[in-house]
Amino acid sequence: MSSNVRPETMARITTPELANAFIEEQVAEVRAQVGDKKVLLALSGGVDSSVVAALLIKAIGKQLVCVHVNHGLMRKGESEQVIEVFGKELDANLIYIDATDRFLDLLAGVEEPEKKRKIIGGEFIKVFDEEAAKLEGISFLAQGTIYPDILESDGVKAHHNVGGLPEDMAMELVEPVKLLYKDEVRVVGEALGLPHAMVYRQPFPGPGLGVRCLGAITRDRLHALREADAILREEFDNCGLAEKVWQYFIAVPDFKSVGVRDNKRYEGWPAIIRAVNTKDAMTATIEEIPYSVLHKITDRITHEVEGINRVLLDLTPKPIGTIEWE
Ligand code: XMP
Repeated sequence: MSSNVRPETMARITTPELANAFIEEQVAEVRAQVGDKKVLLALSGGVDSSVVAALLIKAIGKQLVCVHVNHGLMRKGESEQVIEVFGKELDANLIYIDATDRFLDLLAGVEEPEKKRKIIGGEFIKVFDEEAAKLEGISFLAQGTIYPDILESDGVKAHHNVGGLPEDMAMELVEPVKLLYKDEVRVVGEALGLPHAMVYRQPFPGPGLGVRCLGAITRDRLHALREADAILREEFDNCGLAEKVWQYFIAVPDFKSVGVRDNKRYEGWPAIIRAVNTKDAMTATIEEIPYSVLHKITDRITHEVEGINRVLLDLTPKPIGTIEWE
């Protein structure tokens, strides 16, 4: 297996030319490592696993088997994009598993954040494991490990995250971007032809909307959260904030307040807007959103999303608030 230490002579990949040279080198290396064997990859749709998928498709085509598990806690359109880009455009060997019911049934009535995380992480491994067991002749496991993962942990993609895989999966690893920093992974992703929005996607926690649908998750509130979040993202795209803000999302708590709609009492949940800037997620500052944009978002969410009757803005920096509400 190749070294886990980035050579000091390795130039930072900042241009398409450098990215293409890296891609050619990795394609050759992966082909030499894998031969005619099969490789399995858990494809979440995040930046790292997407870039690894595109790179491996280029290197070994259908010898790569991608498994995308939809845990029902993805943002609007995300699983659809994975199917469109990898299943259709790149013609990958893609297995799509809609495990929404399994996850939401297990999460029903569970209020405690850590318990919710454990359930989501544990079930993810189970679903992936079951799928892997059905496949024959898989010799390698590909992972989207990047250099900060190696520097910050034991070198295996963050175990606390969804996508952490069972330790007893006795397969040799294929980790073509393990010596790259995040900005380099993005440049490589664009050179591989992945959509800009996928490659520059804002950070999204492994347990997904599960940490933003506060308290015990219900399907109706999760649906409202997903729709409100999609409106926020659309309006941030429209006004240019999407390119500027590090992370922005909606959280929906599990209580209602009274409101009025069509001259009738209308009880609904509040949608809380959070938009922060940070370098390393250890501290964060609040982005100033123009009032006109806030009014537009409020108007759209309260009129278009069933179940939401107020929109609030979180002005708390980290510390003292964490980025996620959880
Ligand atoms: P907090 O809420 O601790 O979040 O200020 C810091 C950053 O971490 C992200 N986050 C996660 N990322 N898996 C991840 O990959 C997770 O389980 C997870 N939980 C939180 C959060 O979105 C923020 O960017």
